[in-house]
Order: sequence, then C-alpha cells, then structure tokens
Amino acid sequence: MQPLYSVEHETRHNTNHAEEENVERPEENTPLLHRFPQVVTERTPLTMFIVSLLLIILSAGVIIGIYLLVIQNDSENVLPPVENPLQLVSRSQWDPSNEEQSALRSFPYRLRAVTVVHTGTNQCNSTETCTKLLLEVKSNATAANSTVGYNFLISSNGQTYEYLGWLKCIPQSTKTTTPTGLLLAFIGNFTETPPNTRQLETAKKFFAASESQQYLHPSYRLFGKNVNDTPPILGQSLKIFPQWSNEFSDKK
Ligand SMILES: *[C@@H]1O[C@H](CO)[C@@H](O)[C@H](O)[C@H]1NC(C)=O
Ligand SMILES: *[C@@H]1O[C@H](CO)[C@@H](O)[C@H](O)[C@H]1NC(C)=O
Ligand SMILES: *[C@@H]1O[C@H](CO)[C@@H](O)[C@H](O)[C@H]1NC(C)=O
Ligand SMILES: *[C@@H]1O[C@H](CO)[C@@H](O)[C@H](O)[C@H]1NC(C)=O
Repeated sequence: MQPLYSVEHETRHNTNHAEEENVERPEENTPLLHRFPQVVTERTPLTMFIVSLLLIILSAGVIIGIYLLVIQNDSENVLPPVENPLQLVSRSQWDPSNEEQSALRSFPYRLRAVTVVHTGTNQCNSTETCTKLLLEVKSNATAANSTVGYNFLISSNGQTYEYLGWLKCIPQSTKTTTPTGLLLAFIGNFTETPPNTRQLETAKKFFAASESQQYLHPSYRLFGKNVNDTPPILGQSLKIFPQWSNEFSDKK
C-alpha cells in the first residue's frame, strides 16, 4: 500500500507542479483558497503581530520622510545665502580689455589685514552705472601713470566688483609697519555721509567669503589707510566689525 500511496502522492505532487507551471492563474487560485482558512486560523496572532509591526515601520517611515522634507525645506531657505553670499561682478564682466599689470605681486600666504577706503567718487547703484564709473576710475589712474590698487569695490546697491581680485596686490610701502593686505573700497565719497547698510552688509559677506576661501587668515584685522582715504565717518561705520583696529595702515 505504501509504495502505491507515495507514488500516488508523487503523481499528485507532480500534477500540482505541472499545474503551477502550465495552468493559468484563475484555476491555480482555487486550491489555494481551500487551504487558506486552516492556515489563517492557526497563525492569526502572529499575522496580526507582523501586520502591526509592518504598519509601525511604515508609519515611522512616513514620519521620518515628512521630517526630512521639513528639514530639507528649512535648509533650502537657509542654504542659498550661505552658498552664494556675494554678488560678485568679475573683472572681465565690467572690463573686457583687462591686461596684466606688471607692478603687482601675488599673495604668497593668507593675509592678515584688509585696508578699507572710499573711492572719493560718485556713488553707483547698478551694474551699468558702476561699470561706467569704474572704467573712468581706471582710465584716470592710467592717465596719471599710477596703478589702482583696489582688490575689490562695493557699490551702493551691495554688489562687489573685482578689480585686482584676491591674488594680486600693490607691493607694500616699506615705510609702513602695518600690513596693507587686501584693499577694499566703498564706491562713493564718505567724507560727510556714511556708507549705507547694504554696503556694510556686503562688506561683511565679503570678509566672510575671503576667510572661508582662505585668502584671509582667521585672525585678520581691518585698517583705514589715511584720513583722506578712510574719512572718520567711514571709520565710525566700520566699528560694527570686531576686526576693526581703528588704525591707519598708511603712516605718512
Ligand atoms: C568728498 O566730498 C568732500 C565734500 O563732501 C570733498 O571736500 C572732497 O574733496 C571729496 N573727496 C574727493 C576725493 O573728491
Ligand atoms: C542711484 O543713484 C543715483 C545717483 O547716483 C540716484 O539718482 C538714484 O536715485 C539711485 N537709485 C536708487 C534706486 O537708489
Ligand atoms: C576722472 O578725472 C576727471 C578729470 O580729472 C574728473 O573730473 C573725474 O571726476 C574723474 N573720475 C573719477 C571716477 O575719478
Ligand atoms: C610711468 O611709469 C613707468 C614705469 O612704471 C615709468 O618708466 C615712466 O617714466 C612713467 N611715466 C611718467 C610720465 O611718469
């Protein structure tokens, strides 16, 4: 009897197997449905437990997802100003005919000073007017056979204009003991009126960018040049910076 049974069993098994492989879904479902109740009654607590666990994991996933979305939104609100804090107008943007100036040297190391001056000119508050003004500053300097030493200039509308950039400077006069460092100019004449908030905020961003890009040493300080180039009213405004030394770098 036994061999017969096992053969029968095997045959049935094989038939089932063949059905699984060859027969289409609707017919395959029927035997499954018949067997299902037994299995379900046996495993209900376990199934409930697994389902609850999966639900908990799913809810946790959804909550974490929402949390990450919120975080991302927050960081989207915060990040752009940090990534690109400076409205920098490069030299080639306002002065396409820029040539190398021989009287300059490259910075060998991170600078520990920024000298802040004003241009003593009109103010400008758009890329168009600033371009016009800066080209005039440049051509006036060339006419006088002198080199303009500004590394960067800041306009009334808070734009930063590259002049010599970060990597060049006029060699420091030997008579001065205070380092000149970067020469930053506020565009305008601040003998009687202080620079506006946007200019000062841009200066702050410029210092931060220069430090983070390692052109400035973390212990850098700010200097004026002399009483004409850094009028007292401008010096007063610069007191908002903890780095302001209240000293002139040009002692003559
Ligand atoms: C800046 O303005 C003052 C008067 O407000 C004037 O005396 C001075 O010459 C001006 N500076 C420059 C460099 O033009
Ligand atoms: C820009 O500056 C000019 C003078 O240089 C002034 O007449 C004009 O009102 C200023 N515009 C703005 C938007 O500040
Ligand atoms: C350039 O020089 C001319 C003539 O000396 C002067 O009138 C003008 O204000 C100067 N411009 C600037 C931007 O310094
Ligand atoms: C201009 O500067 C050059 C060197 O930089 C000098 O050889 C020349 O004599 C100067 N010209 C004037 C008119 O000062």
